Amino acid sequence: MAVNGVYKPDMNRVPTGEFFLPSRRTNGFGVQAEDTKICVIMVGLPARGKSLIAQKVVRYLHWLSIKAKIFNVGQYRRTATPNPTAEFFDTSNSEGEKLRMAAAEAAVSDMCRYFANGEGLIAILDATNSTKARRRWVQERCRSEGIETLYVESKCDEESTIMSNILEVKTTSPDYVGQDPEVAAQDFRNRIRNYEKVYQTIDEDESDMTYVKLIDVGQRVIINQIQDYLQSRVVYYLMNLHIRPRSIWLSRHGESKYNLEGKIGGDADISDRGELYAKALPGLVKKSVGDNRKLTVWTSTLKRTIQTARFLEFEKLEWKALDELDSGVCDGLTYAEIEERYPDDFKQRDEDKYNYRYLGGESYRDVVIRLEPIIMELERSENILIVTHQAILRCIYAYFMNVPQERSPWMEVPLHTLIKLTPKAYSTQEERLKADIPAVSTFREKGSSAKHQ
Ligand code: ATP
Ligand code: F6P
Repeated sequence: MAVNGVYKPDMNRVPTGEFFLPSRRTNGFGVQAEDTKICVIMVGLPARGKSLIAQKVVRYLHWLSIKAKIFNVGQYRRTATPNPTAEFFDTSNSEGEKLRMAAAEAAVSDMCRYFANGEGLIAILDATNSTKARRRWVQERCRSEGIETLYVESKCDEESTIMSNILEVKTTSPDYVGQDPEVAAQDFRNRIRNYEKVYQTIDEDESDMTYVKLIDVGQRVIINQIQDYLQSRVVYYLMNLHIRPRSIWLSRHGESKYNLEGKIGGDADISDRGELYAKALPGLVKKSVGDNRKLTVWTSTLKRTIQTARFLEFEKLEWKALDELDSGVCDGLTYAEIEERYPDDFKQRDEDKYNYRYLGGESYRDVVIRLEPIIMELERSENILIVTHQAILRCIYAYFMNVPQERSPWMEVPLHTLIKLTPKAYSTQEERLKADIPAVSTFREKGSSAKHQ
């Protein structure tokens, strides 16, 4: 990895051509998708991160415009048994067994309907699916409906990880609402013991199935019989996940000379006030990051981000994929000039900003596709500070904060502000630190072509 070097792998290039164009017959990856029906079946003892993994996969897929939905058997079970004790999960408890099977049955039936109604391409069946018999049953149901299956097992026997998982998420589960956290943790430990009595990990006699086994939070990964592109993307994503505590900092470049003139795109220098922000950034980062944390800084290849990051004393990488959305023939124009020269385009962009592609340039949708390697790398990494551009920052922020496409291109992301995102178990925490250095606002409301203020 180059220190202060330019890192531009080929996958960073802005892809052009039919493969990446969104159309009726393709999903966000450019994959033929009409008949795709994949059920991702989670497998593993309780508190192995199955729900967390399911939620992350769905967030990732939605970000890529691939419709996906989680069917959580625990939620179905809770309608009949909202606050079970550990005994409910003992397989010698026939009443418990009956109710658990009914919950699984209801979830699988809803999932089959979801596919039959063409509501999505991927479903995630989130349950322990911890016995071979249960997995065969799900397998048969899916096969009879023409649904492909991908088993994802999370296997982890590290007692300290399990205990910290229980304390992090299980004591606040709706199963234990109003209960003492210590009692809840003990009951959950006993619940796991009951599952352990019957748990069968995926092994050789299931080698006809497509599966990925994540062992010890991804330290080892076993992959079997991956069938197609979409499955392989999901598996690759899973292989990159980790749960080590870390944060991601996002900042736009300091105010640029183009920002002052209200022009979009280009490769302008930063303004005097942008320079002040560049000088203030190390202090702002220190305040937010603390003294001892290691950090890597990513910038785009454009001057304004490199200039903004230049006083930061950390390892730096430049990514072509972080360059601003390409505004094609409108590069270097103000919004008023665009409205005057390309009135239809200007209107179309307001009507569907996410999908609108500038003549000879890009749409937000295109940007998301080119940012996919960045997201993958971010998932693998620890503390990263990204100094980038308005549209790019919106797309990265949308991934972490689960912002829908109708809203993400319209989000306000002010200049001279450091955003800290900290992934937590089921959500991402956000903090904003504003530098006391004025800058124009480059935010443009729908319908407006007013100059930057
Ligand atoms: P249950 O079967 O009770 O629904 P679960 O397996 O779905 O449990 P989660 O609720 O997702 O478990 O547990 C979340 C916790 O698991 C978090 O604390 C998270 O840090 C941790 N975690 C995430 N991924 C993994 C993994 N691959 N292995 C072990 N723990 C993980
Ligand atoms: O904690 C285990 C759990 O998430 C329960 O909430 C839920 O009832 C169960 O797993 C679903 O999996 P299974 O149907 O395999 O027991």
